[in-house]
Amino acid sequence: MLSAPPRAWALAGWALLPLRLFLGVTFTFAGLQKIANPEFFSKTSSSGVYAQMLQAVRHSPISFLLNHLVEHATLLGWAMALGELAIGVGLLFGLWGRIAAIGGVTIAFSLFLSVSFHTNPYYLGSDLAYALAFTPFVLCGTPVLSLDALIRKRGTTGGADNSQELVVMTMGAVRALCTHAAPNDACSATSGPCDGATCPVLREPKSTLAKRSVDSVGRRQLVVGGAVAAVTAAGAAATAAVVAGVGRVGNSSTPTTTPVTLKPGSNTSNGRRIGKASDVPVGGSATFSLPDGTPGIVLQPTSGTYAAYNAACPHQGCPVDYFKSQNLLVCPCHGSQFNPDNGAVEVGPAVTGLIEYPVTVVDGDLYVKV
Ligand code: FES
Repeated sequence: MLSAPPRAWALAGWALLPLRLFLGVTFTFAGLQKIANPEFFSKTSSSGVYAQMLQAVRHSPISFLLNHLVEHATLLGWAMALGELAIGVGLLFGLWGRIAAIGGVTIAFSLFLSVSFHTNPYYLGSDLAYALAFTPFVLCGTPVLSLDALIRKRGTTGGADNSQELVVMTMGAVRALCTHAAPNDACSATSGPCDGATCPVLREPKSTLAKRSVDSVGRRQLVVGGAVAAVTAAGAAATAAVVAGVGRVGNSSTPTTTPVTLKPGSNTSNGRRIGKASDVPVGGSATFSLPDGTPGIVLQPTSGTYAAYNAACPHQGCPVDYFKSQNLLVCPCHGSQFNPDNGAVEVGPAVTGLIEYPVTVVDGDLYVKV
């Protein structure tokens, strides 16, 4: 009653095609997008993986682990970008689908633990949903419209031991086919009764032919699968290299924010001194640290006009960046956008605005009231 119906995996494979397409396209795009953005790998960028890990360390339930990993942020960033690309391509083409799905669960669940664990209510965080969306492919792989299916088919039909699939037959059917079947259910090969337990035709292949077949089929699948995987990986690597090159050329001409980090001074009646006003470029921004270590951002959209905010995005805490060309504060993680005049949400998924702090200039120094 609880056993799977006939051809269950194939049916599941067809039913899961829309989800497989979505995850494949999304992860391919996510990987290429990171690879095309040199800021993501930069340790000095407030929108890079390093800044995001520093932010995650403060709140994540696995902060003890992230603490050790944060110094390898650039390496982890590359591993994540290439991993996402491999997972996306694997699902799209149905190549090593189970392994790709296990990778997807691993990345999504790691992001859940490090970035979106405290999202409230929990269903607004996407990482947990992604982790669960990958699990059907861990169970059934990519059995239809896939390179895996093609490799399996080629592996079972391409060699000398033609198809050796196991089939269930009644003894009546065996007798009808067997050349040793004699009248009165007797066996001419054993001179005894026709019996599955003593049948030389049924017993011999079980121990030798079937084993030989499974071994050779496994070898063929491994060789063909390895060759297809190598060609696909080479194609993906070439695409990634081109995208990375184009991204670097494109990014070099569009700096969006300044990496200046202001050095805080002491608290005064004017507020907390965060640094020299002249260090914040006109039309740019600079970062500073709030007393609890959370990043802050101060802008000078036009000469002499300053605004300061808690830079932690209210959605899941990634530090926002100032984009002068669009006159917006933008979160690099999920794209929330905020008005630089008052911190209000322009575009979600964040549902509340940035926390704003009054900022004044006294004798050339910037003070914020936090
Ligand atoms: S952390 Fe998700 S939009 Fe900012």
